[in-house]
Amino acid sequence: MQDNNSVIIFDTTLRDGEQCPGASMTLEQKLLVASALDELGVDVIEAGFAIASQGDFDSIVEISKVIKNATVCSLARTKERDIEVAYDAIKNARRPRIHTFASTSDIHVKHKLKMTKESVLEMIAKQVAFARNLTNDVEWSAEDATRTDMDYLCKCVETAINAGATTINLPDTVGYTTPIEHKAMFETIRNRVSNIDKAILSTHCHNDLGMATANSLAGIAGGARQVECTINGIGERAGNTALEEIVMAIKTRNDVFPYKTKIVSENIMRTSEIVAKASGFIVQNNKAIVGKNAFAHESGIHQDGMIKNKETYEIMTPESVGRNTHLALGKHSGRAALKDRFEQLGYKNLSDEDLKILFIEFKTIGDKKKNVSDEDLVKLINS
Ligand code: KIV
Ligand code: ZN
Repeated sequence: MQDNNSVIIFDTTLRDGEQCPGASMTLEQKLLVASALDELGVDVIEAGFAIASQGDFDSIVEISKVIKNATVCSLARTKERDIEVAYDAIKNARRPRIHTFASTSDIHVKHKLKMTKESVLEMIAKQVAFARNLTNDVEWSAEDATRTDMDYLCKCVETAINAGATTINLPDTVGYTTPIEHKAMFETIRNRVSNIDKAILSTHCHNDLGMATANSLAGIAGGARQVECTINGIGERAGNTALEEIVMAIKTRNDVFPYKTKIVSENIMRTSEIVAKASGFIVQNNKAIVGKNAFAHESGIHQDGMIKNKETYEIMTPESVGRNTHLALGKHSGRAALKDRFEQLGYKNLSDEDLKILFIEFKTIGDKKKNVSDEDLVKLINS
């Protein structure tokens, strides 16, 4: 049973993340990522979309065999054949889940599904019940929920829960919503759907307007207790909500987000590196939490503050996500940081006069190079 402030972390790096152009991974790479996710402490691993390809099916089967703690899930359209194949792929997992979805917005129902809204409702009732006959853990997603008419969305959610769905996911498929709107959507669903207490609500956001993390946190404030996210925020188009951002926002601002997750945050950096390597998606330097510069300080004023007390410029410890602080030396650095680095390199008794000369030389190097390395410093002191 889930307690009121626990948030389930549903990782979809291997499905929505891998689905974006250029991110596909081999079976071996997927197994490596899945094991890292399990060690990170995610609650659910969406291992793929079983019917999409033989490779996806095989990876889900193999991941299901080796994952010790997390629930393993496969995506399926709300179609009997998709659901059968998804179940076949996950049936040997310790905790299997079928995740089935159907579009609900007018634009998707009319142009993509080419169905009527009534027939979509019938399909949800029939296929969710079919999935629930195969396994007790069934998630149903209303694709494009955030652009769906609210009365109709309520009907779809009620129908899916009546048919046996245990998790209801309301994705912002196209990254269109805003935090205030997203929170309100969850509140309305909770107020208007009569059987809503029988399911856990889930938020799944895309980053097209750069609001995926903010929207997901707003979804939690509105009552969602599962967040769907990916490592490094990889995913369709501009990506999905980044797992590391959600987890560290909850941890760092627990006064504002009074929730808890089971994530071992010290494993975040390691997992990020494994995913970057496997997917070939290099993390941008200024990416929150896992970017190269997320805990790096170059300017003299910041470095001076950091040497005196790290809390001056760090709101969380780098160690809490498996990293170290990095005082980068460059043309913006000050004398305090230079002295500190020389001391770390073993030059502990530099006089003020020595340091003054070294600092002038150091700035000359800094003007020519982006970073002044330890090697440059040793050369400088020896000269
Ligand atoms: O973004 C989306 O709507 C999805 C669903 C298939 C869950 O990824
Ligand atoms: Zn998605």
